Amino acid sequence: MTSVAERAQEIVSNYKGKEGVLIHVLQDIQGEFGYLPEEAVRVVSEELGISLAEIYGVASFYSRFYFVPRGKTIVRVCRGTACHVRGSGRVLGKLEEGLGLKSGETSPDLKFTLETVNCVGCCALAPVVVVNEKPQTVLNPDKVIATLKRSGNGGQD
Ligand code: FES
Repeated sequence: MTSVAERAQEIVSNYKGKEGVLIHVLQDIQGEFGYLPEEAVRVVSEELGISLAEIYGVASFYSRFYFVPRGKTIVRVCRGTACHVRGSGRVLGKLEEGLGLKSGETSPDLKFTLETVNCVGCCALAPVVVVNEKPQTVLNPDKVIATLKRSGNGGQD
């Protein structure tokens, strides 16, 4: 089995000799692991000759990079105005209760991450929950929770 460091080394080697590749390398690493494991970031630092501080500084600038493991299913509750007016607070409460997570948390088995998000641009569907990038209207939060728990992948099966 390939270790995190070995896999990170393979990814960096795809970019060897090219300039300005840090973001691409980090994107590939996150694509591989779902986040940026410290072990992989160390490899990037050594291989590209960029300090850890600089790498973390760059990665922190972009909200799309994560430094801790995330769930296989990412559940985002829209908290934009239209969704708020149509009960997203109640939806969030139900999901927190149903999944046993607070917003921003990931389940210990790495099945779910629960987050909130600002308007995702489909206010006509409010209140909206985005499951692994797919927005859906939430008429019945209990049904959404049941589907999530049953499939473990947001009903995308
Ligand atoms: S406010 Fe939720 S989609 Fe616009």
